[in-house]
Amino acid sequence: MYRFDIAVGSKADLYRDLHSALDGLTADEPDAIANMANAAALLWEYLPDLNWAGFYRNVGGELVLGPFQGKAACIRIPFGQGVCGTAAATRASQLVADVHAFPGHIACDSASASELVVPIVVDGALIGVLDLDSPLVARFDGEDRAGCEALVALLGPRVTP
Ligand code: SME
Repeated sequence: MYRFDIAVGSKADLYRDLHSALDGLTADEPDAIANMANAAALLWEYLPDLNWAGFYRNVGGELVLGPFQGKAACIRIPFGQGVCGTAAATRASQLVADVHAFPGHIACDSASASELVVPIVVDGALIGVLDLDSPLVARFDGEDRAGCEALVALLGPRVTP
């Protein structure tokens, strides 16, 4: 069993501690799926107000469901479709305050109201995306985006197949 010392105060403290916990969890493990699985579990446990946390992987130019926590989800998402596919196609994080206002949003879980998707790019290659969903409208802000982009920068080389 792992024990983490995660601050519950400011978001800055929370993301700092998540970064060091994620570093400890994944530093010595070369298996991409194992590292995605533990990252999803860590974020699911410590980020409040989520209904889904996990990964889609770039498999031959299509996003395919990877390790996650939450309800069973859509398995394949073409680049350019939905929030995840848009993040993959543009390689830019997508911070969506109200998913119902996002053109082409893919509703895997009708409880989702807001979403943050961060592309994972390593050495110019799109490895996949990190997807966080919340049942609260506007759950994610710029601090969450910056925090998750830092987590993904750490994780990228450790989830590259
Ligand atoms: N809502 C996402 C699909 C993935 S699930 O939320 C897990 C989207 O529009 O890309």
